[in-house]
This record gives sequence, C-alpha cells and structure tokens, in this order.
Amino acid sequence: MTEKDFILKDFDLTGLTSGSFSWESPSNIALVKYWGKSDPQIPKNPSISFTLNNCHTLTTLEYKKNEEPSDDYRFEVIFEGKKRGDFKPKIEKFLKRIESYVPFIRSYSFIIKTENSFPHSSGIASSASGMSALALCLMNMEKKLNPEITKEYFNRKASFLARLGSGSAARSIEGELVVWGEHREIPESSDLYGIKFPFKIHPDFRNYQDTILLVDKGQKQVSSTLGHNLMIDHPFAEQRFDQARKNISALTKILQEGNLKSFVKLVESEALTLHAMMMTSDPNFILMKPNTLKIIEKIREYRKQTGSDICFTLDAGANVHVLFPEREKESINTFINNELLAFCQKKQYICDHTDKGAKEVN
Ligand code: DP6
Repeated sequence: MTEKDFILKDFDLTGLTSGSFSWESPSNIALVKYWGKSDPQIPKNPSISFTLNNCHTLTTLEYKKNEEPSDDYRFEVIFEGKKRGDFKPKIEKFLKRIESYVPFIRSYSFIIKTENSFPHSSGIASSASGMSALALCLMNMEKKLNPEITKEYFNRKASFLARLGSGSAARSIEGELVVWGEHREIPESSDLYGIKFPFKIHPDFRNYQDTILLVDKGQKQVSSTLGHNLMIDHPFAEQRFDQARKNISALTKILQEGNLKSFVKLVESEALTLHAMMMTSDPNFILMKPNTLKIIEKIREYRKQTGSDICFTLDAGANVHVLFPEREKESINTFINNELLAFCQKKQYICDHTDKGAKEVN
C-alpha cells in the first residue's frame, strides 16, 4: 500500500453530525529499536516491539459538525479532567500532518478527553499510546463515512495516522508483536505502518512479562525529535541501521524457535546500542543513571547464578524494562522485590505483559 491508498475520497458528511468514540490504546516496548528517521516520519530502520497492556491511554473523541468547514482546527484537550492548552501544539501538528488523509477534520469541532493508566511524569512515553488512541477514534469516524472498509484497512490506516503523530505509535494498534519498517524477510512490512508479526510465535514468548522499574521520573532530557535527529551525520549511523536490519532477521527466527538465550543477548545489545548512539552523537547524552547501571549489573548477576532468562531493555531514558517469560514470574518478582526496588524512585514500578493491542471502549 502507498500513501495514496490512505486518502479518503468521495465522502458525505450529512449522516455524521455529532457523537463520540473511545479507545484504550497500549504503550509498546521496542526489542529492536527505532532511532533515526526522515521526513515524514519514515524510519531509518525497521523495528519490532512487544505490545503492552497495563500501560495505556484512554481517549474519548467527541465530535460535532460545524456549520461551515473552518479555516483552523477546532479542538480542546482535556487531560485527566483538566483543560490543557499546552497539549494543543503537538495535536495541531498531528492534525496538519494527517489532514490530507482524513479531510473531514476541518468540518468538526472536537473535544479530546484523555488519561493515562501510568503517572504522567513517570518517564514512560505517552506519545505511542496517546497518538494511537486518537488515530483509532478518527478511524471510527472514517468508518461511519465509509462503512465498506475492512478491519485490515482500518488497522493499517490507524497505524499510518498514528505514525504521523509519533513513530512508535504505529506499533501500538495491534499485538502481541508488531513490526514497523520495511524488511525484505517480512512480507507486507512497510515504512508507512506497523503490521502484526506475520509468523508463528513460540509459546515461550506468549504473555511475556515486562516490569518497568521507575529509576528516574523526571522530564525527558532529550525530546524524541531531537534524539532522532542526532542520527543525521552520526559517525556510526549506517552501521547502526544495518545492524538493526540484521537483528530483525535474527529476532524473527528467535521468536519462532523460542531461543531465549539468543533473545536475551540480542535485546540487551539493542538497548545498549541505542544508548551508545546517544553517547557518541554530537551533542552527546548520557541518559542512564547510576541506578540504571546497578539494576543492569544485578540482572546479569542473577542470570549467571540462576540460569534465568531474565533480561533488560531501555527506552531513551533511565527506566529499566525487565523482560522475562511467564513461567519465571514468581521467582523474578521475588528477586525484583528483594534486590531491584531499592534502586527505583520511591520504590515505584509497573508490572505489565504483552497483549493483543488497542480496545474500543463503549
Ligand atoms: C527510543 O516514537 O517517541 O523509544 O517519532 O519522534 O515521536 P517520534 O519518536 P518516538 O521514538 C521512540 C524511540 C525509542 C525506540 C523505539 O520505541 O523504537
């Protein structure tokens, strides 16, 4: 599919006057990371992620038809019960980017009511869950205008729109594993939207656990746009993009075969490479905190002592995602409680696991 396939044409708004739609959309955690993009939100390499469940955004989009299509976008944002003018520029930019694909948006006034299941300043990015939830609500409107569209088109276009809001949001529509970015060994993979991992997933990777340790809940040190831009002219950029493509090939096999030892090695290497890219860019950033490293050391020690398949991954921040198979849940929870929580801010953490993707809420 190309961009042109996502342009809504020949629609009639008479039947769509007012109403609302709600979606609960999850966060996701990348195993092979997206770091580096070109305009408009095209990834420099394919990425793959686990779709989470407990970390999610609930968004209700209320719409009301305007007397006349307006020159500007009419919307308000209510975040966790409070009107938030400071959220508007990001949404405005998003609406501008998607307008040619959903041209009806200027004919409506919107109230976007949104809330996260996780604390706002937890260092957990809400852009993936937030943008995907909003894109899904808009797709409900499109479906009203064009009831013929298939579930597959609905999801692909939702992911396509979400991507234009935030790249990683393209991976928050479906589950449990999503690939975004073209890769020659993954049929139908695309730079424009995420697709469900198209192969069989080994049972060991079902209901995979992700306990997020909140090491530093402060504001992001580097915005994602600034971060991705660091890959322009980065001395190791081409090697990195090539490595990511190779890691997708390797991970595709690992996920089908259930090779946990190789999974651990690859996933940790991806996390550290992401941080290595930031440490070697101009300007450079150190986003790990001393406690991030302490946790990493403890995880490695535990693995050595017990033969566990526990591993870690990182986002562009100091928090640690602890990943492990469901069968180790009890023992690893004990380990986390006894040994890792001491390194978290106010001992805070979130238990999550992989799931099937966004849910419509009635
Ligand atoms: C480190 O999706 O937040 O989490 O496209 O600029 O919104 P924008 O960036 P964003 O980048 C996520 C980067 C990452 C890795 C990943 O999720 O793949």
